[in-house]
Amino acid sequence: MQIDIITCVPALLDSPFSHSILQRAQDKGIVKVQVHNLREYAVNKHGQVDDYAFGGGAGMVLMLEPIVRCIESLQSRREYSEIIYMSPDGELLDQKMANRLSLLKNIIILCGHYKGVDERVREHLITREISIGNYVLSGGELAAAVLADSIIRLIPGVLSNETSALSDSFQDDLVAPPVYTRPAEFNGWKVPEVLLSGNQKLIDEWREEQSVARTEERRPGLLTS
Ligand code: ADE
Repeated sequence: MQIDIITCVPALLDSPFSHSILQRAQDKGIVKVQVHNLREYAVNKHGQVDDYAFGGGAGMVLMLEPIVRCIESLQSRREYSEIIYMSPDGELLDQKMANRLSLLKNIIILCGHYKGVDERVREHLITREISIGNYVLSGGELAAAVLADSIIRLIPGVLSNETSALSDSFQDDLVAPPVYTRPAEFNGWKVPEVLLSGNQKLIDEWREEQSVARTEERRPGLLTS
């Protein structure tokens, strides 16, 4: 899978893809993440990519032309299944959406900044708009990193033990059960006896019960959705 992220603040995306699971996924050649600086497609030599909004109002708007040029340049190299715009008014990201997106071959993610992008980009180029939550971030970059992370970890081969993504919270509309590690007792705080029993059947049953109980307590909406 190739994920191309378009932004006017590429430095914001330096770190998220340079460590741990996401770095290893790229090292293994399972995914390629490329961050593209919109300023390289600027309308003039000053690197201009934004302008005042027609009709007035506070805040700058990302211009149409640099975005069109950047997307067309990417499309001349490969085909894309989705061109996603990160926006607080987009479809809310959830695990099901991440699962579906992880099956795609190539995607572009466009990050807005300032007041957003010229609406014609959304009308004519964007195939999907995604929000990571009902709050407003300063730009789409952190949201793009969240989206890409949620997708990449689901691609087969990325996690060393593939079942570990399958047992994540939300995969079967349940939250994950609690986990413990050594020491088995600290300050009198004990690990549940069953986890030390060595009886895998009992352990699996206990985990299932805990998942259901936790979901009822913390996220009852998941059980009815
Ligand atoms: N850009 C700004 N806020 C955002 C959000 N909540 N989700 C996606 N993109 C955004």
